Amino acid sequence: MQILAFNGSPRNQGNTSEIIAAILEGARSKGAETAEVRLQDIDLKGCCGCLSCRKHFGFCAQRDDLSPYLEAIKGCAGMVVGCPIYMYRISGQMKLFVDRIYSLYANRPDGGYDSMVPQGKRYALAISQGAPNPDQYKKSIQYLAGMTGSGLGMEEVGRIIHADSQDHPAAGDKGLLEKAFEIGCRLLK
Ligand SMILES: Cc1cc2nc3c(=O)[nH]c(=O)nc-3n(C[C@H](O)[C@H](O)[C@H](O)COP(=O)(O)O)c2cc1C
Repeated sequence: MQILAFNGSPRNQGNTSEIIAAILEGARSKGAETAEVRLQDIDLKGCCGCLSCRKHFGFCAQRDDLSPYLEAIKGCAGMVVGCPIYMYRISGQMKLFVDRIYSLYANRPDGGYDSMVPQGKRYALAISQGAPNPDQYKKSIQYLAGMTGSGLGMEEVGRIIHADSQDHPAAGDKGLLEKAFEIGCRLLK
């Protein structure tokens, strides 16, 4: 059973990476195999707008390092989506990923979407921000949760909103990392 993490931070040892690492450790403690995709480190192209995925639901015609991972989402047990807040929103790396996820949505005749990903999967969110108020970027965080939850049809098992990151780095926050570990434990059924 594999848990796939998508990391939208370019910082390999930054806050998002620390939190994702703790979540994945929790998942491994329950027997999961884990893989982390650092979006900054792969050849990741943006959606080219070809709309091929509107004819062939579930398949993205853009070929790059993300292609095998878009396929892997269909077969994984769960996902972790981690991202820092950049300029009030998700990072650019994460936005490229979210746009490509459109290929996994199928149009319904009523105007909504069905997920092309088999149901029964779980997900967790890991967000890091400089601002101290964890509610400040609710909409951006809800957008990521919506992509994975209502969009792909996965069930959320928890989220970390790490705020005030400059004064309180995730690496030194034992309570936060313990909570992240526990969330990871819930990723496998
Ligand atoms: C380009 C850039 C833009 C940022 N914009 C915001 C912002 O709008 N609001 C905020 O609270 N923090 C902002 N930050 C701070 C980051 O969200 C914060 O440092 C976070 O902990 C970084 O996560 P990381 O260590 O995982 O990369 C910004 C940082 C950068 C580099």
